[in-house]
Amino acid sequence: MRKIICPDYDEVCTAAADIFALQLKQKQDSVFGLATGSTPVGLYEEIIRRCETGEMDFSQAKAFNLDEYYPIEKNHPQSYKAFMDLHLFNKVKFAGTQIPNGEADDPHAECARYDAAIETAGGIDLQLLGIGINGHIGFNEPADVYPVGSHLTSLTESTLIANSRFFSEGETQPTTALTMGIGPIFKAKHILLLITGSAKAEVAKKLFDGKLYTDVPACFLLLHPNVTVIMDEAANSGRKE
Ligand code: F6R
Repeated sequence: MRKIICPDYDEVCTAAADIFALQLKQKQDSVFGLATGSTPVGLYEEIIRRCETGEMDFSQAKAFNLDEYYPIEKNHPQSYKAFMDLHLFNKVKFAGTQIPNGEADDPHAECARYDAAIETAGGIDLQLLGIGINGHIGFNEPADVYPVGSHLTSLTESTLIANSRFFSEGETQPTTALTMGIGPIFKAKHILLLITGSAKAEVAKKLFDGKLYTDVPACFLLLHPNVTVIMDEAANSGRKE
């Protein structure tokens, strides 16, 4: 696990965009695994900026997102489909993008279809991850037993509280989601984990103290041969912002 510490969030986004650029330079038709949440927003802004100046071009690349609430309508403002359209896909042209279908009749069949689609695309070259304050990656929440493949999951109270900031009063917040499993995430050739902000300092500390905490799903990444972690100083030191 390579650890890169940047002074602040903006520099984390620049360093992450550089890794995306390198991936594209090596393989124009790369398959990217993408994430939602607050953490990657600045990275997506930087990618949009570089696409506008012609420094980056995703027109041959494909993208698979990590997760989606379930059930949720695609055009619901809080769906991850809507999030990705707003923050990236409406501005950056990809050869293809996929997000687990929050409207699927059969969530289990949808997860099997999603894993097969990733395989058919040749697997993920670069997987972007954020991390929950409880250590989740995707929506693989802390548990005794982890499904390997993509699956329907119940969100923990910690995740529901953390994500409630995106929902306005009176808006129903889904309590279940479809997520890529640890298995498909692990098949990615390179994993890029971004950890920013002092709220993530405690979980980041656990990730780097040389133990595999089974109740911190991100610790599985310690076993992957090619993981880059980019952190800001707030997440690295616990310094209050
Ligand atoms: C999002 C995802 C989640 C987030 C995590 C951190 O697609 O899979 O694991 O990366 O909840 O969220 P933020 O970045 O909002 O702190």
